[in-house]
Formats: sequence, C-alpha cells, structure tokens
Amino acid sequence: MSQPVETLQRTPVHTLPAEPGPSTRAVHAGAVRHNPYHAIIEPVVQTATYTFRDTADLCAFMDAHMWGMAAGRTEYGRYGNPTVQAVEARLAAIEGAQAALLFASGMAAITSVLLAMLPTAAHLVMTDDCYRRTRQFCLTFLKRLGIDCTIVPAGDYAALEAAIRPGQTRLLISESPTNPYLRCLDLERFAEIGRRARVKTLIDATFATPLNVRPLEYGVDLVVHSATKYLAGHNDLLAGVVAGEAGLIASLKNALGVMGAVADPHNASLLLRGLKTLGIRVERQNQNGQAVAEFLEAHPKIERVWYPGLASHPDHATAARQMRGFGGVVSFTVKGDLQTASRFIDAVRIPIIAASLGGVESLIEQPALMSYYELSTAERLQLGIYDNLVRLALGIEDTQDLIADLSQALDQI
Ligand SMILES: Cc1ncc(COP(=O)(O)O)c(C=O)c1O
Repeated sequence: MSQPVETLQRTPVHTLPAEPGPSTRAVHAGAVRHNPYHAIIEPVVQTATYTFRDTADLCAFMDAHMWGMAAGRTEYGRYGNPTVQAVEARLAAIEGAQAALLFASGMAAITSVLLAMLPTAAHLVMTDDCYRRTRQFCLTFLKRLGIDCTIVPAGDYAALEAAIRPGQTRLLISESPTNPYLRCLDLERFAEIGRRARVKTLIDATFATPLNVRPLEYGVDLVVHSATKYLAGHNDLLAGVVAGEAGLIASLKNALGVMGAVADPHNASLLLRGLKTLGIRVERQNQNGQAVAEFLEAHPKIERVWYPGLASHPDHATAARQMRGFGGVVSFTVKGDLQTASRFIDAVRIPIIAASLGGVESLIEQPALMSYYELSTAERLQLGIYDNLVRLALGIEDTQDLIADLSQALDQI
C-alpha cells in the first residue's frame, strides 16, 4: 500500500487519455489505479463511521474540516464513503459533469434536490409528463411547505416561458425521453429559457442514459437519473444520482448530509460494477429498441407505436438531432381492448411482467394495470393512458429472439 491506512483517501491516480469515449469512461474514469492489497476492484468500504487515532488526530481533522480544506477523510458515513465517492467520480465523468452525488434511490435524489434548492414561497415549473411520483411530491409535499408548482404541457415552450414568475420561480424541471410516450425535449431551448430568466434547469434523463444524451452539454444545470435503471442495469439495486457544476453539487452534498438519503456502500459497489458494462448494454438496448419498434410498427395487430427512433414519432427530429441512440423502451397499443393487451402480455415468453426498465432482462407492463390500476378507463383516458397500451423495456437479449417471441404472442391474440 502506498498510503498508511489512516490517511487513505480516494485520489484518482488513473489518468486516462484525453477525451476518452463513453465506454472507456464507464470502465475506468475516477478509478484509483492502485487499491489497497493491489486489488483491481474498488474496495467496498462497508462502514457506518470512521475512527480517530487520538484527540489530536480528531482536532487536526476538525480544524481542516472547519476551514473547508480537503481533509481527505470524513468522520461519519452520512457525510461520505470511499466506495460511494468512486461511483460519483465515475458518474460525473460519464455525464461530462464537474461533480456528481449519489443517493439511496432516484426519488431520494429528486426529493432531496428539490427540498435543498427551493425556499419557502418559491415556485417551480414542471412539464406534464414527468414521473408521477415526482409530480406527486411537487403537488402535495412541496405544496404543504408553501412551494407552488405550475404544470405545463411538455413541448409547449411558450407555456413554459409564460409560467415563469419573475423573482419567485427557482427551477424548471422536465424529463427526456418521457414515460410512456417517449416525448423528447429540445434541451437547448429548455436550457435557454431557464438561462434567460435566471432560473435553474433540471432534466431527469433516466430513459436516455448519458450514453444517448448528456443534457449538461446543452446548457442544462442539473441532470438526474434513477440509477436503478440503465446505470446499474441489473434490476438488483435502487440508487439515484444528480450531476452538475461542482459548487452546486457541493451545496447539495451538504444538504444530503443533513437529510440523510445516502447510498449504501454495498449498493455503490454493485452500481460501480454495473457501470462497467453500461456502454455495451445501452448499445444493445438501442439496437433492440429500434428493431422491435420497426417490427411492431409493421405488424397488422398493432395500432400505434411510440419510439423516438421511428420517423412517425412526434419528436423524431429533435431526438435524431440530440441523441446518439433512442433507448430501450418501446410503447405501443395492440388492436383491441384491455383484455387483448393482457392476453398478449401473458403470451410473451421472454419479457417478464414487472415495473422498471433499463436492466438486462426485458420487462413488459400494461400501464392501465400497473401505475393506473385504481382509475377507470375514462379517468385513464383523461391522462392519455389507453387500456390497450403496452410498455416494453428491452433488455440485452438477442434481437431475433425478442422479435420471434413478440411475433408468436401476437399470433395468439
Ligand atoms: C424517470 C424516472 N425518474 C425517477 C424515478 C424514481 O427512481 P427510483 O425508483 O430509483 O426511486 C423513476 C422510477 O421509476 C423514473 O422512471
């Protein structure tokens, strides 16, 4: 070991060539070249607290800490962890951000960021197809704190701009692509509206992944991911991340130390392992998404397909301009009713019925029976959710197997 254990800190000494590609970053960025015991893998530092040799050691740490100097260590698990820090360094590099911060889940990231950034009596603007729990948080929990939220139709940039209240609006939030219709926002336009009004912008890019689009490159201030999905990629953990400018992330880190929705070191280690294959996984998921969308669009038993890689998608031009791939989620309606869609889902053999997306296993769901189960058909229609809608989140299985499976299931309805 090159450092005594008590001063061991994560100093990335792994210098990559200039401008590494996304897959190289996903495997190597932020890694410590020489780990304790010469292990190639970042150690799982599974600890809740950290020790001090004596009171002088403690006082030296406190002095360094109080003056904002890099103490190279911390005193308690809620304030930092080397394994978590390794993931944060890698995610920042993949996202092209100055810094990133890891949370216990995607919702922990979203709720903590909003609570940290919005003072009482603030106002935020959100597009209408944001993740329903994000909407719920803004419309109920934040409202209780006197924070007002205006919801505008996604893609209506005039409405977005008009909703900004000078001096009161602090944040514009959107997603791209959205769920379930994969609407893609013009990120440059979104960021510009925020910049002109001096309002921060935040994009939840969970469905895109940083392999397909990096919102910070378009001038967006903060990007959030449910790392549970593509970033981790194996349907075996929950995590969330926010990335952006170092000063902003540092202030969010202080808030996280108080609010406490921190990632567990063991989960961080699993996430770090998942990230190493992000490049090839997303490449395959993009390929599966495009092939399956094209197959479904040409099938006589399919009514309509939503996939940003299809020319028929309303945001195809925007997506083609700003995305390197169109992702692994395909939404479609089968010809028929709620029962027809259920029969189709029950007939597929590879995709598994489950919520979520982005993992190696293909997952399938009928939104009417999952997220909107308690609503009537009429209520669902008001929200734009059709009874015969199916959402297919493709995994990394072989494309021809997936298409053959969907084909045999369609033959049965
Ligand atoms: C777009 C989007 N954002 C955020 C979340 C929340 O993430 P998590 O489930 O990791 O809390 C989800 C989860 O389904 C999501 O789809």
